[in-house]
Amino acid sequence: MRWRGVIEQYREYLSVTDKTPVITLNEGGTPFISCNNLAKAINPEISLYLKFEGANPTGSFKDRGMTMAISKAVEEGARAVICASTGNTSASAAAYGARAGLKVFVLIPEGKIAVGKLAQAMIHQACVIQIEGNFDEALSIVKSIASEYPVTIVNSINPYRLEGQKTAAFEVCDHLAGYPDYHFLPVGNAGNITAYWMGYKEYYKNGRTSGLPRMMGFQAAGSAPIVYGHVIENPRTIATAIRIGNPAGWKTAVEAATESNGQIDMVTDEEILKAYGMLASLEGVFCEAASAASVAGVIKKNKEGLFSGGERVVCTLTGHGLKDTEMAINLSKRPVTVKGDKVEVLKVLGY
Ligand code: F0G
Repeated sequence: MRWRGVIEQYREYLSVTDKTPVITLNEGGTPFISCNNLAKAINPEISLYLKFEGANPTGSFKDRGMTMAISKAVEEGARAVICASTGNTSASAAAYGARAGLKVFVLIPEGKIAVGKLAQAMIHQACVIQIEGNFDEALSIVKSIASEYPVTIVNSINPYRLEGQKTAAFEVCDHLAGYPDYHFLPVGNAGNITAYWMGYKEYYKNGRTSGLPRMMGFQAAGSAPIVYGHVIENPRTIATAIRIGNPAGWKTAVEAATESNGQIDMVTDEEILKAYGMLASLEGVFCEAASAASVAGVIKKNKEGLFSGGERVVCTLTGHGLKDTEMAINLSKRPVTVKGDKVEVLKVLGY
């Protein structure tokens, strides 16, 4: 059967009725990839899987939540939506908002979002406002505006966002015909880990699975407020998608980790970039840097002796590598330039 997007696929688990206009780009149904090469390099005793959310229509997991948030906004009569973003939320809001005929306002931290994400918001004709400040400051402005003016906030504090995003956990269980032992994912504003945990619990409660994974969330070391237990005023990291110092989902993310006997930890930029490179060179998977925090987390925890062998470990890769080609180019070997001549090319090939 044709994949019809997460609302139709998982309608019974979502707050939608026959009256809800479904605004969808057929998001979800993303690749679930078994990773033998990567497992071999990290720990051959574990079964490692990737949920590649970069394959969503706008290139990130945000589309799962945005189909719900925009559909409900339209149902409730909204004419405009607003969000703060490190890039992916704004790209997704702009696309789904365009499809729904809504006005879309996005606030982004100037100079701190990948250019692909900026291009997306612009081509969908969102009103893009760059602020001289960080994501946390943008979110606080957005919250204040949404509480005073007729505009719906579509950040993950909108409960429909998390509802949509929990469908990724359903898909993981559907793929595995069960639940994983561990689920690793990057943490930024801390919505996604909250959503996955909701999804896993719901499937368990409904008898679809017989157990629950341990939720393992990873912040970037320069932007790790949850790990340090205090707000970071000037968050820093090369992984701009998760450059957040005061996550809105702080409390629920901690709950997810605690209830599941998991953990919120951090990885350095160096560890993130190493995992980013390994995913591309060993598995042919091009994700954005922030996404690789999940795999960096597996490498870190493996070194600490977390796994005893035989575990099923899932990593969410939240966004597509094409969002930030500058990052990939900067980290890679330069192309060789030669004359348009077979002999010259053969010299390079070593034949
Ligand atoms: N990975 C990517 C690629 C992201 O864009 C984000 C968040 C995360 C991970 C973290 O997810 O916030 O639910 O903990 N991006 C948001 C945005 C903040 O504005 O696009 P989270």
